[in-house]
Amino acid sequence: MELDRQVSRMLHEEHMAVLSLLEKLETTLQRAGRGAPPDVADGDVIRLMGDLQAGIEGEITNHFAFEENELFPCLAREGEGDLVDLLCEEHVVILPLGRQLAELAGAVRSGNVNGDDWARFHRLGGEFAERLRSHVDKEEMALIQAVEDTIDEEEDTRLAEQYASSR
Ligand SMILES: [Fe+2]
Ligand SMILES: [Fe+2]
Repeated sequence: MELDRQVSRMLHEEHMAVLSLLEKLETTLQRAGRGAPPDVADGDVIRLMGDLQAGIEGEITNHFAFEENELFPCLAREGEGDLVDLLCEEHVVILPLGRQLAELAGAVRSGNVNGDDWARFHRLGGEFAERLRSHVDKEEMALIQAVEDTIDEEEDTRLAEQYASSR
């Protein structure tokens, strides 16, 4: 789909980046298994933990805040209230899950986790990946289209500048 709005393109790019992070997370969870924490000498695992922390506390938090505070109110005024309510309800579940996961990722990174912590990371990580992927899929199908259909060029420029300055 060719996107005409800057906001659609920005959101789409970030959605693709987050899907790639989730794929790495799931691959690592599968490879490491649930039984014991992975070796902290494994550079890939440590890098992923850092990427998860930075991604959740930075890009994902920002992205959600922009959608909720700036974009969704515009779409709600254009009659997209039901879609916006659904997406907000998902944010409210996903972000706290992500915060717990980011905190545990920090502990994994420093080698500071026991078997129970790792089992928790494994469970939370799986749930986070599943919920966030389904959320992103929904936004790619419905939200991007709603932006393309309802946000005019002037509003798009205003929103895109606002988003760029918040990053
Ligand atoms: Fe999004
Ligand atoms: Fe979202």
